[in-house]
Amino acid sequence: METPNCTKYLPESKQLNHFIYKKGHNTHVYSQYSLGKKMRVLGIESSCDETGIAIYDTEKGLLAHRLFSQIAMHAEYGGVVPELASRDHIRKTLPLIEEVLSEAGLSRSDIDGIAYTAGPGLAGALLVGAAIGRSLAWALNIPALAINHMEGHLLSPLLETPSPAFPFVSLLVSGGHTLLVDVKGVGQYELLGESIDDAVGEAFDKTAKLLGMDYPGGPYLAAKAEQGIADRFVFPRPMTNRPGLDFSFSGLKTFAMNTWLDTKQTEQDKADIALAFQTAVVETLAIKCKRALKQTGHKRLVVAGGVSANKALRHKLDSMKGVEVFYPRQAFCSDNGAMIAFAGAMRHEAMKHQDVPSFTVRPRWPLNELSPP
Ligand code: KG4
Ligand code: ZN
Repeated sequence: METPNCTKYLPESKQLNHFIYKKGHNTHVYSQYSLGKKMRVLGIESSCDETGIAIYDTEKGLLAHRLFSQIAMHAEYGGVVPELASRDHIRKTLPLIEEVLSEAGLSRSDIDGIAYTAGPGLAGALLVGAAIGRSLAWALNIPALAINHMEGHLLSPLLETPSPAFPFVSLLVSGGHTLLVDVKGVGQYELLGESIDDAVGEAFDKTAKLLGMDYPGGPYLAAKAEQGIADRFVFPRPMTNRPGLDFSFSGLKTFAMNTWLDTKQTEQDKADIALAFQTAVVETLAIKCKRALKQTGHKRLVVAGGVSANKALRHKLDSMKGVEVFYPRQAFCSDNGAMIAFAGAMRHEAMKHQDVPSFTVRPRWPLNELSPP
């Protein structure tokens, strides 16, 4: 074990420790909370259409993670069907828990705590993860902790190396949220701006749908945009010509619809519209990120959520001068269990006081209602 060269990213609050864990020829750098004792946290994510399970070890880092995506099941209906989602989480959660335990070479009794997503998300889907997480914790006589899904996304880049030190600005771009947050530490979140209508992912999905693409259309639209001719169409950059950090994306899909109806609707037209839409979204997000960084004085930007997988967005943000930008790895941009297990580990102290066997979920749960662990 030795101190890695990423020490400069350490937060002053010394809450976050980094060390190198050597295994064979590979050197893994893990970020972790300094704990009085070693803790292995089982994370359960079931807020929408993905069942994600992972085990995070506060000494060794992420031990195992598994994901089952329900996308193929919902694609037939053009969007998530909540009742089908809940039923599928019931089918998948326990088998995936067995798989991660086996991959990590652990048994249930090796788990010290359980972290589950308690909101925001679909009520029925959340209840599955909460009921299984709480019951398992009760049976194993270990604590369980309700985790905010958006906090999971927000902290997910801290699983990477180098990981960002606090404070930073976080841009959270998912299917349900578009948030700019001033992050001073775990649980110290000040909302700077949000979408007043469609979330970015939702705008991608709706625009992709009207162009005839499958659900969820974000990745399909992004792929199509790669064949587009730049500047053939120019879409507006909503709410950038007035002060403030809020977003509005619903007008872009209407703009896309009207543009599409004015063309011969060829594959090239589709690609050109996809590119114009994506460029408008990316530039709008970049303008607001710059403003948020200027307003807060922070030099680090952390981007997470499903849309943070978008290559054009990463390219644009990476080109900003004087700013370090951090992302989760591609597999952890969209929903996953690792970010929930990690958030649970970051809140391990709170976990000790959360062993009441009753529970509730919060389909709506604003990030700024959280407090530090
Ligand atoms: O974070 P996430 O998996 O789920 C929510 O918590 O909402 O985000 C899913 C969203 C979907 O709207 C999906 O279309 C979008 O992320 N997305 C993308 C890309 N990959 C996923 N949008 C644009 N470009 C991508 N490459
Ligand atoms: Zn999500």
